[in-house]
Amino acid sequence: MATERNSIYHLFTKFFSNTSFVAEEDHRMIGFLLGFISQDNPKEAYIHLLCVHPRFRGYGIASKLLKEFIENVKRKNIRRISLITKPINKRAISFYKKHGFKDYKGPETKKIGDVNVFKGYNGEGEDMVLFEKFVK
Ligand SMILES: CC(C)(COP(=O)(O)OP(=O)(O)OC[C@H]1O[C@@H](n2cnc3c(N)ncnc32)[C@H](O)[C@@H]1OP(=O)(O)O)[C@@H](O)C(=O)NCCC(=O)NCCS
Repeated sequence: MATERNSIYHLFTKFFSNTSFVAEEDHRMIGFLLGFISQDNPKEAYIHLLCVHPRFRGYGIASKLLKEFIENVKRKNIRRISLITKPINKRAISFYKKHGFKDYKGPETKKIGDVNVFKGYNGEGEDMVLFEKFVK
């Protein structure tokens, strides 16, 4: 059984419910967004995971979850939203770009295809794309 100790998701539903959302159909969960506001910088928010059930993808569900999240954190005066995704995750990359997120470019990144990849972000060999969006 998933408990607070072995599943981080419980922590989101219990302690970050203002920034975590669920999409349902017929009382069944078909998508979710888990996010939080930084404790270190109260002007920053982070999306830990956004996921839609494969059967329900392409219908705008993730877009609605993201819109809800953005509207909510804007009301809390958040200025920057960030997240990471794997360079092979083309769907997610296209999704976040479509929603105005920019792939971070800096001395640690290398352009691979049409995306800037942060080398070794998650440790050796674990490259990631770091997305950020500045909101007012
Ligand atoms: C990424 C994900 C959340 C998108 O969910 P969704 O509900 O299908 O997304 P929406 O319908 O709201 O948005 C569609 C947009 O996403 C992108 N997208 C979705 N499916 C795509 C595909 N197969 N290929 C390319 N782009 C795709 C496009 O930009 C698309 O816009 P368009 O319809 O104008 O072309 C979903 O594919 C998913 O759950 N993936 C697995 C988990 C994951 O990778 N999460 C993101 C990392 S945190």
